Amino acid sequence: MERTLAIIKPDGVARNLVGTVIQRLEREAIHLAAIKMIRLTKVQAKGFYKVHEGKPFFDSVTDFMSSGPCVAMVLEGEDVIAHYRNIMGATDYKKAAEGTIRKEFATDIEKNIVHGSDSPETAAFEIGYFFSAMEVG
Ligand code: CMP
Repeated sequence: MERTLAIIKPDGVARNLVGTVIQRLEREAIHLAAIKMIRLTKVQAKGFYKVHEGKPFFDSVTDFMSSGPCVAMVLEGEDVIAHYRNIMGATDYKKAAEGTIRKEFATDIEKNIVHGSDSPETAAFEIGYFFSAMEVG
């Protein structure tokens, strides 16, 4: 059993897509182990995306991620990191496969509705960034 950190970003929350995203997870039999709504500060957004520090989009994406509330979730299932990434689609929605969340709803490479951890190491860091051991169980 594997875990990953999923985020419905401020654009997804603002556009009332929380239920739509969760429904897609549930219909794929992905289990929700924890969930919370939170508005990140700019400093917290920078800490979350620290692997991207120095990249041209770092300032903009951390502004965006702290611009409104997001919904953070811990997902659980067999190969859930890869499974959820397939459901999300490519970071750049123009390259995302048909039927994916980003293909259907993203409006630009930054405002791409959802985030998902890209490896077990990243998932461990990202889950710990949003949730305490007691909240995840
Ligand atoms: P995410 O998967 O959350 O990881 C980093 C985020 O930075 C990415 O989704 C996008 O929202 C944003 N971003 C903006 N521009 C780029 C880019 N050129 N390459 C990758 N990510 C980008």
